[in-house]
Amino acid sequence: MAGIERFYPLFQPEHYDLFIDVNREQKTITGTTKIRGNASQAKIAVNQKDLQVSQVRANGNPVPFTTDDEAEAIRIELPAAGAVELELDYQAPLTDTMMGIYPSYYEVAGEKKQVVGTQFETTFARQAFPSIDEPEAKATFSLALKFDEHPGETVLANMPEERVENGVHYFAQTLKMSTYLVAFAFGDLQSKMTTTKSGVEVGVFATKAHQPKELDFALDIAKRAIEFYEDFYQTPYPLPHSWQLALPDFSAGAMENWGLITYREALLLLDPDNTPLETKEVVATVITHELAHQWFGDLVTMKWWDDLWLNESFANMMEYVAVDALQPDWHVWEMFQTSEVPMALSRDATDGVQSVHVAVNNPAEIDALFDGAIVYAKGARMLVMVRALLGDDALRKGLRQYFVAHQYGNAEGKDLWQALGDASGLEIGKIMNSWLEQPGYPVVSATVTDDGQLTLRQQQFFIGGGTDKGRQWQIPLDSNYAAAPQIMDKPELKLGDYKSLRKQAGIPFRVNVGNNSHVVVQYDPELLADILEDVETLTPIDQRQILQDLRLLASAQRIDYARLIPLLQQFAESESAIVNAELYAVANSLKMFVTPGSPAEQELREFFGKLVQANVNRLGLLPRTGESNDDQKVRPIVFNAALYAQLPDIIEQAHTIFTDHHAGLVSLPADVRALILKNEVQNYGSADLFDQLLTDYTTTNDVNYREDLAAAVPNVADPQLAERLVSQFKNADVIKPQDLRAWYRGLLANELNQQVAWDWIRNNWDWLEATVGGDMEFATFITVTARIFHTPERLAEFKAFFEPKLETPGLEREIKMDTRTISGKVDLIAGEQAAVLKELTRNV
Ligand code: BES
Ligand code: ZN
Repeated sequence: MAGIERFYPLFQPEHYDLFIDVNREQKTITGTTKIRGNASQAKIAVNQKDLQVSQVRANGNPVPFTTDDEAEAIRIELPAAGAVELELDYQAPLTDTMMGIYPSYYEVAGEKKQVVGTQFETTFARQAFPSIDEPEAKATFSLALKFDEHPGETVLANMPEERVENGVHYFAQTLKMSTYLVAFAFGDLQSKMTTTKSGVEVGVFATKAHQPKELDFALDIAKRAIEFYEDFYQTPYPLPHSWQLALPDFSAGAMENWGLITYREALLLLDPDNTPLETKEVVATVITHELAHQWFGDLVTMKWWDDLWLNESFANMMEYVAVDALQPDWHVWEMFQTSEVPMALSRDATDGVQSVHVAVNNPAEIDALFDGAIVYAKGARMLVMVRALLGDDALRKGLRQYFVAHQYGNAEGKDLWQALGDASGLEIGKIMNSWLEQPGYPVVSATVTDDGQLTLRQQQFFIGGGTDKGRQWQIPLDSNYAAAPQIMDKPELKLGDYKSLRKQAGIPFRVNVGNNSHVVVQYDPELLADILEDVETLTPIDQRQILQDLRLLASAQRIDYARLIPLLQQFAESESAIVNAELYAVANSLKMFVTPGSPAEQELREFFGKLVQANVNRLGLLPRTGESNDDQKVRPIVFNAALYAQLPDIIEQAHTIFTDHHAGLVSLPADVRALILKNEVQNYGSADLFDQLLTDYTTTNDVNYREDLAAAVPNVADPQLAERLVSQFKNADVIKPQDLRAWYRGLLANELNQQVAWDWIRNNWDWLEATVGGDMEFATFITVTARIFHTPERLAEFKAFFEPKLETPGLEREIKMDTRTISGKVDLIAGEQAAVLKELTRNV
């Protein structure tokens, strides 16, 4: 594939006058773009994709140009280098790709409607107007927007509207910014508004298909988050407004356009009276993530895509810092431990994974950068390590300096390390580069060696095998023993005589206390037994970490998998949500060792029945007023496990709850709604129920309920219903392409009907590629498949299907890693199954 040509060195835009006319009816875009800037030479190029450019003028005179679709550009010959005002007339189709300018479809009171919005990151601005579409090419923008307008419609953009003349909406000139952050939208919208202490107008916008109260939660979080960031960053929010807009069709989760943030509806709107706490936490972190970008990303932008982590890792950490400040009672760092941490640890243990900082040399690589587990989760862990080393005072001081130095401009990784280093006196870049530039992470093994010395060693950790290249990391040890240094920067460390250290400390030896370092710890049996002795006295994060590290070590065949089984019972009465989440992650992983329908599976179900007993009895199936956050979160975890255990009284109770709400299922308590529906689909399924739920899915405007339906319906037992379900996969009126992956994954995870899902994706791959192929989420259809498959037969089928696709741009790494993920599980099962089943028998 062709490399990336960079056009900014040839032509540096200063200001754009954008005139854009969108016609929803005719599905066309017509525009004129004026770019004032400096040409370094006479032959320049600007980006465009799918634009039909009819004329190019330089300082008012037509100039020759050619379209180069391969390079996504037009090449222009100017009479001379120097200051120039370029003017381009063009036309383009308005398409449904969710890239560039695109319509979202929805229905309100039976009427079909459209709201138009934009998505320009990564390189889709060039589908809306000709531009130097590179993050470094910052300029100011004046937007004039026209469209087939109906009375009462709302028009939004990065900046406030200044005037309307002859149906054209003129917006105030933006500050200097990158093209990928330009945005606008229009449609029949409702809104709620407020103002921050510092006078920033904050608004939440959604279609009128929603109840007004669904906007309240987001408005409150957005306002308080901006106030928080203004204080934390010591830098004012630089624009007059901050709009949050929910779009019915949206390919990513949310997008940080400067002043006009766009969201998936389910990540912005919620019914304050019936939404699980966990969903509120997720929505809050999405909002704080995008608002963190308003400074880190928008005010200061990465110079080139290889430093994407600067944007995303940082926002991914700050989302938690902010929510923790706004809602301390949520203990949102616990959610960091249950979502980001395990995601990063599993993916980063697979050989072939990318490093956080990656070179980007061809266009397909830009979208492949957005690996949620690496650039987001691992990158955020990296910055959590930095924050722990620096402390908030030095972090804030350094950030302020970074914003002052680079605002309205661009930065690279080293600029951040420079600012943080200056503020703290630590050589932070040196420590971080070992995490940033290398893929993978270490296992730190702690052993008492023959000479009685407490010894630490580091070595790269692999699940599913890998080639050890001798990589080493600078590891913040966070030990509870003073004998351990702050940073481990050698392959091996001797800390001293274990017996005397143990006596002196009076507590078991541990490293990575708090689980902030991106490592797994393997204690030798003696040290582990010492920790497990009083494990109940540790914090929930530490308890969870011990289970999690053991699960990872067992997956890597560094300890016996069977060893985990008795351990689960030790934690089964825990009332902590994050401990239970990990406990059942381990328990669920045992499912791969039992064949569906076998006596061993029956034993595993019995084992689940024992595990859930205490918590299910304690909590019951329905939420109670005034209960703790942990109780609210533990209930669905153990309820789900109880369904796997097939406990008859649970199945019946859930059925009764369903029957009580049959007339309006949306009113089921949202905390357990998905599980009540799942139970019904699994154990009382019928064609009538299937129809009812699918109809609800297409007609409800409660986005949370929609997600619950998408989680429940794929559990159908009847193969005919599974067939009926996949027959809707390509019907965007029922399942929108952006939501399809969840349905596919759900059906693939359903052992009774896995074949139907697997056949569907193989038979419809070309359609899938044509529909979502340009999207960064495309590759994750493969990822989710590999997370489910674990048998030699499926491995062979997976390879037969995907290996011929290794050449598809952006898929090579994914296919290779996912093959390794499945083959790792196949090996693991072959090696451990007999012992696991024996241990299971012993524990029921
Ligand atoms: N900048 C991204 C959105 C994005 C990613 C656009 C890739 C184009 C390509 C945004 O800030 C983001 O990170 N969104 C996340 C959700 C977020 C809360 C973690 C997403 O869309 O998944
Ligand atoms: Zn982001």
